[in-house]
Amino acid sequence: MALLPAAVRKFPTKIFRSNVSNINCQLRLQNRPKGLLAPGDLQLIESPVPEIRDGQALARVKYLSIDPTMRLWMAADTYLPAVGVGEVMRAIGFAEIVESRHPDYKKGDRLTGLTGLQEYVILDESAKRSFQKVPKIPFVPDTVFLGVLGVNGLTAFFGMEIAQPKKGDTLVVSAAAGATGSIVGQIGKIHGCRVVGIAGSDDKCAWIAKDLGFDAAINYKHPDWKEKLATATPKGIDIDFENVGGDIMQTVLGRMNLHGRVVLCGLISGYTKGDPGMASFATVLVKRLRVQGFIILDYASRFMEAATQLGHWKMFGKLKDRETIVEGLEKAPDAINMLFTGGNTGKLIVKL
Ligand SMILES: NC(=O)c1ccc[n+]([C@@H]2O[C@H](COP(=O)([O-])OP(=O)(O)OC[C@H]3O[C@@H](n4cnc5c(N)ncnc54)[C@H](OP(=O)(O)O)[C@@H]3O)[C@@H](O)[C@H]2O)c1
Repeated sequence: MALLPAAVRKFPTKIFRSNVSNINCQLRLQNRPKGLLAPGDLQLIESPVPEIRDGQALARVKYLSIDPTMRLWMAADTYLPAVGVGEVMRAIGFAEIVESRHPDYKKGDRLTGLTGLQEYVILDESAKRSFQKVPKIPFVPDTVFLGVLGVNGLTAFFGMEIAQPKKGDTLVVSAAAGATGSIVGQIGKIHGCRVVGIAGSDDKCAWIAKDLGFDAAINYKHPDWKEKLATATPKGIDIDFENVGGDIMQTVLGRMNLHGRVVLCGLISGYTKGDPGMASFATVLVKRLRVQGFIILDYASRFMEAATQLGHWKMFGKLKDRETIVEGLEKAPDAINMLFTGGNTGKLIVKL
């Protein structure tokens, strides 16, 4: 079921001035959701597209990155302040400059950054902090800048740096067929690890095992998944790249080797429950584990270095990716919910 009624129209017609509409469709936060997003939690609003002033540029958003953290941003202050009720929902997007009176941007420039869930975004003097120009690479879709060469690739890269993988280590990654987990596993293979992925369907498991080269893939929805995990990790587990939390994390920790490393990237199983989804610290103590959480924003000064390495791996076929594309801004609330019901394989993107 679609979560949105027809747009709340404030302007009866779209008029285009030199290919720019006078109407900016936006999704604004109306209610802090409880559980999955419900109809009306995000409201579709039509606002005027303002004329730009000196020092500003106008960009048209082409793709939106749909990320689990958006559900956290709707609920409460975390590593960023919560989105205010009535504000345009925060989101990362890919956009192209359509008009500019800004010295640093010209028409046709392409950027990624915090566009928000809307069709147009104004860039001003503060844009350098929240937007990054990206090149046009022949035969490479623009969406890679939201996935492999965007937040997910960077998260996988720096998370694996924290993991300090060694040849022969056993690495287990949860949400393994998702945007981040699928790259984590492939980086693990590049480092010579035995890689075991945990995912929520047989199709997802087939993709990561057959196409991405994971050594084993476990469907956690099968009743015997814990026995299968034990069989797939005969030498125990050295690295847990944790994306999910809860029972999955507790089960993985139970098979960790002494002095193993836990990279705490995400706890998605708790995001719609308002519950941190954290596993038992008793296991951390008994197994002398090193647990490190991280937030990708901390690595901003090294994004270029990581993107160069990720691009190199991708160019030489060492990183494969998949995208789930949903069309239309009005579908973004449904898309956000897909992250929590397993509706995506690889990177989830809304195309405008
Ligand atoms: N620390 C950081 O800076 C940072 C940055 C980016 C992402 N993250 C975290 O990384 C994790 C993955 O994010 P992503 O953007 O790559 O999303 P994703 O993995 O592409 O999508 C989320 C996936 O999580 C799985 N999932 C959802 N609820 C689950 C549950 N209750 N139990 C088990 N699996 C569940 C679903 O796959 P299945 O079908 O397999 O269930 C779903 O497809 C999230 O926890 C996110 O918060 C952290």
